[in-house]
Amino acid sequence: MDVNRVLHMNGGEGEASYASNSSLQRAVITMVKPILEETILDLVSDEAFLASKVLCIADLGCSSGPNSLSVISHIVDTITTTCHKQHRQPPEFQVLLNDLPGNDFNTVIKSLPSFYDKLKRGNINHGRSCFVAAMPGSFHHRLFPRKSIHFIHSSYSLQYLSQVPKGLVSKEGMQLNKGNTYIASTTPQVVSRAYYEQFKHDFYSFLHSRSEEVIKGGRAVLTLIGRRTDDPSRDENCVPWKMITLALKDIAEEGHIEEAQIDSFNFPCYAPSAVEVQDIILLQGSFSLTRLEGFEIGWDSNMTTGNTSFDTLMRARYISKYVRAISEPMLSSHFGALVMDALFRRHIERVAELLNKEEPKFNSLVITLIRKVNIIYTSVTVFNSEEILQAISL
Ligand SMILES: C[S@@+](CC[C@H](N)C(=O)[O-])C[C@H]1O[C@@H](n2cnc3c(N)ncnc32)[C@H](O)[C@@H]1O
Repeated sequence: MDVNRVLHMNGGEGEASYASNSSLQRAVITMVKPILEETILDLVSDEAFLASKVLCIADLGCSSGPNSLSVISHIVDTITTTCHKQHRQPPEFQVLLNDLPGNDFNTVIKSLPSFYDKLKRGNINHGRSCFVAAMPGSFHHRLFPRKSIHFIHSSYSLQYLSQVPKGLVSKEGMQLNKGNTYIASTTPQVVSRAYYEQFKHDFYSFLHSRSEEVIKGGRAVLTLIGRRTDDPSRDENCVPWKMITLALKDIAEEGHIEEAQIDSFNFPCYAPSAVEVQDIILLQGSFSLTRLEGFEIGWDSNMTTGNTSFDTLMRARYISKYVRAISEPMLSSHFGALVMDALFRRHIERVAELLNKEEPKFNSLVITLIRKVNIIYTSVTVFNSEEILQAISL
């Protein structure tokens, strides 16, 4: 799978779009808000920022729904209100929304007039002080000029890998993760290891690129899917992919697809543990880790039709719709667009079966970072992750 080309959420604002099916991700952002606010207040009280006339904020993995601009609006409001309370002139804001080039940036851009209006309607007239632009590209590489960014935000994006890990096929051409689409209980250790190595490489590259771009003392709030268990094959975060695998097997039995197609499909995602994340941050060395916390959120969080009780099928439909919004482009590029309706009909059934037995949850990690002031790299390579890299902070 060419991840940079294929990976994007369902575009537009229709029934199957990410824009219409991202309430779960909105609930995650709401849960992280207190940490976001605390980090921003910390940032604006820093001497280095008191003098800044323009504050540059980037949201990485913004997608095409309303969530990204709602976070930006909250950040701008918090900073502006704080400055006014302290009788300081608020800065102007340069906001850079990043995602892969296949993302539906048009939908985000179309919503900018109402975003600016909302900012203006607030009690403080700062609508014209905020300037939003799109920055397509992979966050595993450089995106912005050196030392230009004050604050980085990213939510539910960093678990995506830059590629399906190498090494999932044996020398003889056998699929090593046969019958699975992600790490599962039957996944051989060599496959779990390959997933971890890919995440390590990617997250290291992410931090290294940001270390060039974020000014000294700049902050980051990063939320991603992360696991609780040491063993990735035993974690709750495997279950969403297992539901897709079961639905794929159902439609294989019905003759819509071949079993072999399932064997050769692996999702380019990885849910790291807190220890894994911490180790990579220490290894890369450019950022001080100021907070690393885990939290969980139910699969059916934020169902918002006004009803208080939902039956199992309604909950399963809600879950299946957002799973489809995030995974359909990847699945249809491998299995074909024609089988997607059949697949997600089965998926609803599989999710409903699960909901009858348990209350599934996503485990997540939230990380806050500060760009260190002085770094000396004694060795920098991200290609051999076994090699010990020494980054000494002075
Ligand atoms: C689940 S969406 C989250 C969107 C948004 N942050 C939210 O909370 O609603 C994940 C987004 O990350 C983007 N993404 C994944 N890998 C990326 C990469 N290497 N560079 C930039 N964006 C990436 C995907 O295209 C997708 O739009």
